[in-house]
Amino acid sequence: MQTRLPEPSTDERAHSDHLLQLLREQIASHGPMPFSQYMERCLYAPGLGYYSAGRTKFGAAGDFVTAPELGELFARCVVNAVQPVLAMFGDDADFLELGGGSGAFAQAALKAMAASGTLPRQYLILEPSADLRERQRERLHAHLPAELNARVQWLDRPPEQDWRGVLFANEVIDALPATRFVMREGEVCEEHVTLDGEARLRRVDRPADALVAGAVRHVERDLGTAFSEGYRSEILPQLPYWIQAVAGSLIAGLMLFVDYGYVRREFYLPERDDGTLMAHYRHHAHNDPLYLPGLNDLTASVDFTALAEAGNSAGFGVAAYLPQAQFLIGAGLQEVFEQMQPHDEHGRYRLSQQVKRLMLPDQMGERFQAMLLARGLDVLPLPADLLAADQGGRL
Ligand SMILES: C[S@@+](CC[C@H](N)C(=O)[O-])C[C@H]1O[C@@H](n2cnc3c(N)ncnc32)[C@H](O)[C@@H]1O
Repeated sequence: MQTRLPEPSTDERAHSDHLLQLLREQIASHGPMPFSQYMERCLYAPGLGYYSAGRTKFGAAGDFVTAPELGELFARCVVNAVQPVLAMFGDDADFLELGGGSGAFAQAALKAMAASGTLPRQYLILEPSADLRERQRERLHAHLPAELNARVQWLDRPPEQDWRGVLFANEVIDALPATRFVMREGEVCEEHVTLDGEARLRRVDRPADALVAGAVRHVERDLGTAFSEGYRSEILPQLPYWIQAVAGSLIAGLMLFVDYGYVRREFYLPERDDGTLMAHYRHHAHNDPLYLPGLNDLTASVDFTALAEAGNSAGFGVAAYLPQAQFLIGAGLQEVFEQMQPHDEHGRYRLSQQVKRLMLPDQMGERFQAMLLARGLDVLPLPADLLAADQGGRL
Protein backbone atom coordinates (compact mmCIF):
# COMPACT_ATOMS: atom_id res chain seq x y z
CA MET A 1 0.00 0.00 0.00
CA GLN A 2 2.72 2.47 0.95
CA THR A 3 4.51 2.16 -2.39
CA ARG A 4 1.50 3.68 -4.17
CA LEU A 5 1.39 6.73 -1.90
CA PRO A 6 2.96 10.00 -3.13
CA GLU A 7 6.55 10.55 -1.97
CA PRO A 8 7.03 13.27 0.63
CA SER A 9 9.43 16.12 -0.17
CA THR A 10 12.78 16.28 1.65
CA ASP A 11 11.36 18.94 3.99
CA GLU A 12 8.28 16.89 4.73
CA ARG A 13 10.33 13.81 5.50
CA ALA A 14 12.57 15.85 7.83
CA HIS A 15 9.45 17.17 9.55
CA SER A 16 8.07 13.66 10.05
CA ASP A 17 11.49 12.44 11.28
CA HIS A 18 11.48 15.21 13.85
CA LEU A 19 8.14 14.01 15.27
CA LEU A 20 9.33 10.39 15.03
CA GLN A 21 12.35 11.29 17.15
CA LEU A 22 10.10 12.87 19.77
CA LEU A 23 7.87 9.77 19.82
CA ARG A 24 10.93 7.50 20.17
CA GLU A 25 12.22 9.51 23.12
CA GLN A 26 8.84 9.42 24.86
CA ILE A 27 8.43 5.67 24.30
CA ALA A 28 12.02 5.00 25.40
CA SER A 29 11.50 6.84 28.66
CA HIS A 30 7.85 5.95 29.48
CA GLY A 31 7.31 2.61 27.73
CA PRO A 32 4.67 1.69 25.11
CA MET A 33 2.31 4.57 24.35
CA PRO A 34 -1.48 4.02 24.14
CA PHE A 35 -2.57 4.41 20.51
CA SER A 36 -4.84 7.34 21.49
CA GLN A 37 -1.80 9.20 22.84
CA TYR A 38 0.15 8.41 19.68
CA MET A 39 -2.75 9.76 17.57
CA GLU A 40 -2.91 12.88 19.74
CA ARG A 41 0.83 13.53 19.21
CA CYS A 42 0.56 12.87 15.46
CA LEU A 43 -2.28 15.36 15.08
CA TYR A 44 -1.58 18.00 17.71
CA ALA A 45 2.08 17.94 18.95
CA PRO A 46 2.93 21.68 19.02
CA GLY A 47 4.60 22.70 15.74
CA LEU A 48 4.89 19.08 14.59
CA GLY A 49 1.44 17.47 14.58
CA TYR A 50 -0.67 17.25 11.45
CA TYR A 51 -3.05 20.01 12.57
CA SER A 52 -0.44 22.13 14.38
CA ALA A 53 2.17 22.45 11.63
CA GLY A 54 1.94 24.68 8.61
CA ARG A 55 0.95 22.35 5.75
CA THR A 56 -2.14 22.82 3.58
CA LYS A 57 -4.56 20.16 4.70
CA PHE A 58 -7.89 21.11 3.23
CA GLY A 59 -9.07 21.37 -0.35
CA ALA A 60 -7.63 20.23 -3.67
CA ALA A 61 -4.02 21.00 -2.68
CA GLY A 62 -4.31 19.27 0.69
CA ASP A 63 -5.15 15.77 1.88
CA PHE A 64 -8.94 15.76 1.95
CA VAL A 65 -11.96 17.93 1.19
CA THR A 66 -14.61 18.68 3.81
CA ALA A 67 -18.19 19.84 3.13
CA PRO A 68 -17.50 23.55 3.88
CA GLU A 69 -14.50 23.42 1.50
CA LEU A 70 -16.72 22.51 -1.45
CA GLY A 71 -18.46 25.89 -1.46
CA GLU A 72 -21.11 27.87 0.43
CA LEU A 73 -24.03 25.49 0.02
CA PHE A 74 -23.34 23.41 3.14
CA ALA A 75 -22.89 26.39 5.48
CA ARG A 76 -25.96 28.15 4.09
CA CYS A 77 -28.09 25.07 4.77
CA VAL A 78 -26.69 24.75 8.31
CA VAL A 79 -27.56 28.40 8.95
CA ASN A 80 -31.07 27.83 7.56
CA ALA A 81 -31.52 24.92 9.97
CA VAL A 82 -30.34 26.71 13.12
CA GLN A 83 -31.43 30.31 12.52
CA PRO A 84 -34.81 29.82 14.30
CA VAL A 85 -32.82 28.96 17.44
CA LEU A 86 -30.61 32.04 17.03
CA ALA A 87 -33.72 34.16 16.36
CA MET A 88 -35.38 32.78 19.49
CA PHE A 89 -32.55 34.06 21.71
CA GLY A 90 -32.24 37.33 19.78
CA ASP A 91 -29.48 39.58 21.14
CA ASP A 92 -28.43 36.90 23.66
CA ALA A 93 -27.61 34.27 21.04
CA ASP A 94 -24.02 33.10 20.58
CA PHE A 95 -22.65 30.67 18.02
CA LEU A 96 -19.71 28.41 18.89
CA GLU A 97 -17.86 26.57 16.13
CA LEU A 98 -15.51 23.79 17.20
CA GLY A 99 -12.53 23.08 14.95
CA GLY A 100 -12.85 25.80 12.32
CA GLY A 101 -10.43 24.21 9.80
CA SER A 102 -9.54 26.69 7.07
CA GLY A 103 -12.26 29.16 8.16
CA ALA A 104 -14.42 28.34 5.10
CA PHE A 105 -17.47 27.48 7.21
CA ALA A 106 -17.22 30.61 9.37
CA GLN A 107 -16.87 32.83 6.32
CA ALA A 108 -19.95 31.45 4.56
CA ALA A 109 -21.99 31.08 7.77
CA LEU A 110 -21.41 34.67 8.92
CA LYS A 111 -22.44 35.97 5.47
CA ALA A 112 -25.60 33.83 5.55
CA MET A 113 -26.46 34.88 9.12
CA ALA A 114 -26.04 38.56 8.19
CA ALA A 115 -28.26 38.06 5.13
CA SER A 116 -31.00 36.39 7.18
CA GLY A 117 -30.85 38.94 10.01
CA THR A 118 -29.83 36.35 12.62
CA LEU A 119 -26.25 37.39 13.39
CA PRO A 120 -25.24 36.04 16.80
CA ARG A 121 -23.89 38.41 19.44
CA GLN A 122 -20.57 36.54 19.18
CA TYR A 123 -19.24 33.99 16.69
CA LEU A 124 -16.83 31.97 18.83
CA ILE A 125 -14.26 29.55 17.44
CA LEU A 126 -12.62 26.92 19.62
CA GLU A 127 -9.61 25.75 17.65
CA PRO A 128 -6.72 23.92 19.34
CA SER A 129 -4.29 24.43 16.44
CA ALA A 130 -2.46 27.78 16.61
CA ASP A 131 -1.60 27.45 12.93
CA LEU A 132 -5.23 26.94 11.89
CA ARG A 133 -6.38 29.81 14.11
CA GLU A 134 -4.02 32.11 12.26
CA ARG A 135 -5.28 30.91 8.90
CA GLN A 136 -8.88 31.39 10.00
CA ARG A 137 -8.12 34.91 11.21
CA GLU A 138 -6.39 35.85 7.94
CA ARG A 139 -9.17 34.40 5.82
CA LEU A 140 -11.97 36.14 7.70
CA HIS A 141 -10.12 39.46 7.71
CA ALA A 142 -9.53 39.21 3.98
CA HIS A 143 -13.09 38.26 3.04
CA LEU A 144 -15.54 39.68 5.56
CA PRO A 145 -16.44 43.29 6.41
CA ALA A 146 -15.22 44.74 9.70
CA GLU A 147 -18.67 44.62 11.35
CA LEU A 148 -18.79 40.84 10.88
CA ASN A 149 -15.18 40.34 11.96
CA ALA A 150 -15.92 42.32 15.12
CA ARG A 151 -18.21 39.47 16.27
CA VAL A 152 -15.58 36.74 15.85
CA GLN A 153 -13.53 35.61 18.83
CA TRP A 154 -11.14 32.70 19.27
CA LEU A 155 -11.31 30.82 22.54
CA ASP A 156 -8.50 28.99 24.33
CA ARG A 157 -10.97 26.80 26.17
CA PRO A 158 -14.73 26.19 26.17
CA PRO A 159 -16.83 29.09 27.53
CA GLU A 160 -17.01 29.11 31.33
CA GLN A 161 -19.94 31.54 31.58
CA ASP A 162 -23.43 30.19 30.88
CA TRP A 163 -24.52 30.93 27.33
CA ARG A 164 -27.42 30.35 24.90
CA GLY A 165 -27.32 29.58 21.24
CA VAL A 166 -25.82 27.02 18.88
CA LEU A 167 -22.71 24.86 19.01
CA PHE A 168 -21.59 23.43 15.67
CA ALA A 169 -18.84 20.96 14.71
CA ASN A 170 -18.18 19.42 11.30
CA GLU A 171 -15.65 16.57 11.19
CA VAL A 172 -14.28 17.26 14.67
CA ILE A 173 -15.24 14.11 16.60
CA ASP A 174 -13.51 11.94 13.97
CA ALA A 175 -10.32 13.85 14.80
CA LEU A 176 -10.48 13.16 18.55
CA PRO A 177 -7.74 10.75 19.65
CA ALA A 178 -9.29 7.27 19.42
CA THR A 179 -8.55 4.34 21.69
CA ARG A 180 -7.99 1.05 19.83
CA PHE A 181 -9.05 -2.08 21.70
CA VAL A 182 -8.79 -5.78 20.94
CA MET A 183 -10.30 -8.85 22.60
CA ARG A 184 -7.79 -11.47 23.85
CA GLU A 185 -9.09 -14.59 25.63
CA GLY A 186 -12.18 -12.76 26.81
CA GLU A 187 -10.19 -9.81 28.20
CA VAL A 188 -10.08 -6.29 26.81
CA CYS A 189 -6.63 -5.20 25.62
CA GLU A 190 -5.58 -1.78 24.40
CA GLU A 191 -3.40 -1.19 21.36
CA HIS A 192 -0.14 0.64 22.13
CA VAL A 193 2.74 1.92 20.01
CA THR A 194 6.24 0.77 20.89
CA LEU A 195 9.69 0.41 19.27
CA ASP A 196 11.24 -2.70 17.74
CA GLY A 197 14.94 -3.62 18.03
CA GLU A 198 15.79 -1.16 15.24
CA ALA A 199 13.83 1.72 16.84
CA ARG A 200 11.00 1.44 14.29
CA LEU A 201 7.43 2.05 15.48
CA ARG A 202 5.29 -1.02 15.89
CA ARG A 203 1.94 -1.82 17.50
CA VAL A 204 1.56 -3.99 20.58
CA ASP A 205 -1.47 -4.97 22.69
CA ARG A 206 -1.48 -4.64 26.49
CA PRO A 207 -4.19 -5.22 29.11
CA ALA A 208 -6.63 -2.31 29.09
CA ASP A 209 -7.12 -0.08 32.12
CA ALA A 210 -10.49 0.09 33.92
CA LEU A 211 -11.74 3.13 31.95
CA VAL A 212 -11.17 1.50 28.54
CA ALA A 213 -12.34 -1.96 29.64
CA GLY A 214 -15.46 -0.44 31.23
CA ALA A 215 -16.30 1.49 28.04
CA VAL A 216 -15.90 -1.67 25.90
CA ARG A 217 -18.03 -3.74 28.29
CA HIS A 218 -20.74 -1.07 28.15
CA VAL A 219 -20.83 -1.37 24.34
CA GLU A 220 -21.05 -5.19 24.61
CA ARG A 221 -23.93 -4.93 27.08
CA ASP A 222 -25.74 -2.45 24.85
CA LEU A 223 -25.26 -4.67 21.77
CA GLY A 224 -26.35 -7.70 23.76
CA THR A 225 -23.35 -9.72 22.58
CA ALA A 226 -19.68 -10.14 23.44
CA PHE A 227 -16.98 -9.22 20.91
CA SER A 228 -15.29 -12.29 19.41
CA GLU A 229 -11.65 -13.28 19.97
CA GLY A 230 -9.31 -10.96 18.05
CA TYR A 231 -12.02 -8.34 17.34
CA ARG A 232 -10.36 -4.93 17.08
CA SER A 233 -11.98 -1.54 16.87
CA GLU A 234 -12.02 2.01 18.22
CA ILE A 235 -13.81 3.64 21.13
CA LEU A 236 -13.82 7.11 22.71
CA PRO A 237 -13.97 6.54 26.49
CA GLN A 238 -13.41 10.29 26.94
CA LEU A 239 -16.44 11.34 24.87
CA PRO A 240 -18.87 12.00 27.79
CA TYR A 241 -16.21 14.13 29.55
CA TRP A 242 -15.40 15.94 26.31
CA ILE A 243 -19.05 16.78 25.62
CA GLN A 244 -19.45 17.96 29.21
CA ALA A 245 -16.34 20.12 28.78
CA VAL A 246 -17.35 21.75 25.47
CA ALA A 247 -21.10 22.10 26.13
CA GLY A 248 -21.49 22.14 29.92
CA SER A 249 -22.13 25.90 29.94
CA LEU A 250 -24.59 25.85 26.99
CA ILE A 251 -27.67 26.15 29.19
CA ALA A 252 -30.19 26.57 26.41
CA GLY A 253 -29.83 25.82 22.75
CA LEU A 254 -28.70 23.34 20.20
CA MET A 255 -25.61 21.35 19.30
CA LEU A 256 -25.15 20.14 15.72
CA PHE A 257 -22.51 17.54 14.93
CA VAL A 258 -21.88 16.39 11.37
CA ASP A 259 -19.42 13.57 10.81
CA TYR A 260 -18.94 10.22 9.14
CA GLY A 261 -20.13 7.35 11.23
CA TYR A 262 -22.85 4.93 12.12
CA VAL A 263 -25.27 3.88 14.82
CA ARG A 264 -23.56 1.51 17.26
CA ARG A 265 -24.73 -1.82 15.85
CA GLU A 266 -23.45 -0.78 12.40
CA PHE A 267 -20.20 0.63 13.77
CA TYR A 268 -19.38 -2.64 15.56
CA LEU A 269 -20.48 -5.03 12.82
CA PRO A 270 -18.88 -8.47 13.37
CA GLU A 271 -17.17 -8.24 9.97
CA ARG A 272 -15.71 -4.77 10.70
CA ASP A 273 -13.10 -6.47 12.85
CA ASP A 274 -10.25 -4.00 12.34
CA GLY A 275 -12.21 -0.87 13.18
CA THR A 276 -12.62 2.28 11.12
CA LEU A 277 -9.25 3.97 11.56
CA MET A 278 -8.04 5.66 8.37
CA ALA A 279 -5.01 7.70 7.40
CA HIS A 280 -5.24 10.35 4.65
CA TYR A 281 -2.27 11.55 2.73
CA ARG A 282 -2.76 13.83 -0.28
CA HIS A 283 -6.15 12.42 -1.23
CA HIS A 284 -5.00 8.82 -0.73
CA ALA A 285 -6.73 6.89 2.04
CA HIS A 286 -4.68 4.10 3.61
CA ASN A 287 -4.69 2.08 6.81
CA ASP A 288 -1.18 2.36 8.22
CA PRO A 289 -1.24 4.98 11.01
CA LEU A 290 2.49 4.49 11.66
CA TYR A 291 3.42 5.70 8.16
CA LEU A 292 5.05 9.18 8.11
CA PRO A 293 3.72 10.42 11.48
CA GLY A 294 2.69 14.06 11.38
CA LEU A 295 2.12 14.11 7.60
CA ASN A 296 -1.07 12.04 7.62
CA ASP A 297 -4.47 12.93 8.89
CA LEU A 298 -5.67 10.13 11.20
CA THR A 299 -9.41 9.67 11.74
CA ALA A 300 -11.91 7.16 13.08
CA SER A 301 -15.64 7.07 12.33
CA VAL A 302 -18.11 8.20 14.97
CA ASP A 303 -20.33 5.85 17.00
CA PHE A 304 -23.39 8.14 16.99
CA THR A 305 -25.10 6.06 19.68
CA ALA A 306 -22.13 6.93 21.93
CA LEU A 307 -22.52 10.61 21.00
CA ALA A 308 -26.23 10.48 21.90
CA GLU A 309 -25.37 8.85 25.26
CA ALA A 310 -22.69 11.47 25.94
CA GLY A 311 -25.16 14.24 25.05
CA ASN A 312 -27.82 12.70 27.31
CA SER A 313 -25.44 12.49 30.24
CA ALA A 314 -24.62 16.19 29.78
CA GLY A 315 -28.34 17.02 29.88
CA PHE A 316 -29.11 17.17 26.13
CA GLY A 317 -31.79 15.22 24.29
CA VAL A 318 -31.45 14.06 20.68
CA ALA A 319 -33.63 16.38 18.60
CA ALA A 320 -32.84 14.70 15.29
CA TYR A 321 -30.43 12.20 13.77
CA LEU A 322 -30.30 11.72 10.02
CA PRO A 323 -27.96 11.21 7.06
CA GLN A 324 -26.36 14.40 5.70
CA ALA A 325 -28.42 14.28 2.47
CA GLN A 326 -31.71 14.21 4.41
CA PHE A 327 -30.45 16.88 6.77
CA LEU A 328 -29.58 19.22 3.89
CA ILE A 329 -32.94 18.64 2.18
CA GLY A 330 -34.75 19.29 5.48
CA ALA A 331 -32.65 22.43 5.92
CA GLY A 332 -33.89 23.84 2.61
CA LEU A 333 -31.24 22.74 0.11
CA GLN A 334 -33.59 23.20 -2.86
CA GLU A 335 -34.27 26.83 -1.98
CA VAL A 336 -30.61 27.60 -1.26
CA PHE A 337 -29.62 25.93 -4.53
CA GLU A 338 -32.06 28.14 -6.45
CA GLN A 339 -30.87 31.30 -4.67
CA MET A 340 -27.25 30.45 -5.48
CA GLN A 341 -27.78 29.80 -9.23
CA PRO A 342 -24.88 31.47 -11.04
CA HIS A 343 -25.42 33.10 -14.44
CA ASP A 344 -22.56 31.38 -16.24
CA GLU A 345 -22.30 27.79 -17.45
CA HIS A 346 -19.11 27.05 -15.51
CA GLY A 347 -20.60 28.35 -12.25
CA ARG A 348 -23.72 26.21 -12.74
CA TYR A 349 -21.55 23.15 -13.36
CA ARG A 350 -19.52 23.80 -10.20
CA LEU A 351 -22.67 24.22 -8.11
CA SER A 352 -24.13 20.96 -9.42
CA GLN A 353 -20.82 19.21 -8.59
CA GLN A 354 -21.09 20.60 -5.06
CA VAL A 355 -24.60 19.18 -4.71
CA LYS A 356 -23.40 15.77 -5.95
CA ARG A 357 -20.52 15.60 -3.48
CA LEU A 358 -22.75 16.63 -0.57
CA MET A 359 -25.73 14.46 -1.48
CA LEU A 360 -24.79 11.26 -3.30
CA PRO A 361 -25.00 8.22 -0.99
CA ASP A 362 -21.50 6.97 -1.82
CA GLN A 363 -20.02 10.48 -1.44
CA MET A 364 -21.03 12.44 1.67
CA GLY A 365 -24.82 12.01 1.48
CA GLU A 366 -25.10 8.81 3.50
CA ARG A 367 -21.61 8.27 4.84
CA PHE A 368 -22.01 11.46 6.86
CA GLN A 369 -24.66 11.86 9.55
CA ALA A 370 -26.05 14.91 11.32
CA MET A 371 -27.00 14.81 14.98
CA LEU A 372 -28.87 17.67 16.68
CA LEU A 373 -28.95 17.73 20.48
CA ALA A 374 -31.06 20.22 22.40
CA ARG A 375 -31.26 21.48 25.96
CA GLY A 376 -33.37 24.06 27.77
CA LEU A 377 -35.80 24.69 24.87
CA ASP A 378 -39.55 24.61 25.53
CA VAL A 379 -40.23 24.20 21.83
CA LEU A 380 -37.91 22.83 19.16
CA PRO A 381 -37.76 25.59 16.59
CA LEU A 382 -36.35 23.44 13.79
CA PRO A 383 -37.60 23.24 10.18
CA ALA A 384 -40.59 20.85 10.03
CA ASP A 385 -39.10 18.92 7.07
CA LEU A 386 -35.96 18.28 9.07
CA LEU A 387 -37.85 16.97 12.09
CA ALA A 388 -40.03 14.83 9.81
CA ALA A 389 -36.91 13.12 8.41
CA ASP A 390 -35.55 12.22 11.86
CA GLN A 391 -34.17 8.69 12.15
CA GLY A 392 -33.37 8.88 15.85
CA GLY A 393 -35.21 5.62 16.40
CA ARG A 394 -32.26 3.82 14.77
CA LEU A 395 -29.83 4.87 17.52
C1 LIG B 1 -11.07 17.43 9.88
S1 LIG B 1 -10.83 19.03 10.47
C2 LIG B 1 -12.40 19.76 10.10
C3 LIG B 1 -12.31 21.25 9.92
C4 LIG B 1 -13.61 21.98 9.58
N1 LIG B 1 -14.62 21.80 10.61
C5 LIG B 1 -14.14 21.54 8.24
O1 LIG B 1 -15.18 20.90 8.19
O2 LIG B 1 -13.49 21.83 7.23
C6 LIG B 1 -10.83 18.86 12.23
C7 LIG B 1 -10.78 20.17 13.00
O3 LIG B 1 -11.07 19.91 14.37
C8 LIG B 1 -10.12 20.58 15.17
N2 LIG B 1 -10.12 19.92 16.49
C9 LIG B 1 -9.53 18.79 16.87
N3 LIG B 1 -9.75 18.50 18.16
C10 LIG B 1 -10.55 19.48 18.62
C11 LIG B 1 -11.12 19.77 19.90
N4 LIG B 1 -10.91 18.98 20.93
N5 LIG B 1 -11.88 20.89 20.03
C12 LIG B 1 -12.08 21.70 18.99
N6 LIG B 1 -11.56 21.48 17.75
C13 LIG B 1 -10.80 20.40 17.58
C14 LIG B 1 -8.86 20.48 14.33
O4 LIG B 1 -7.84 21.34 14.74
C15 LIG B 1 -9.44 20.86 12.97
O5 LIG B 1 -9.65 22.24 12.83
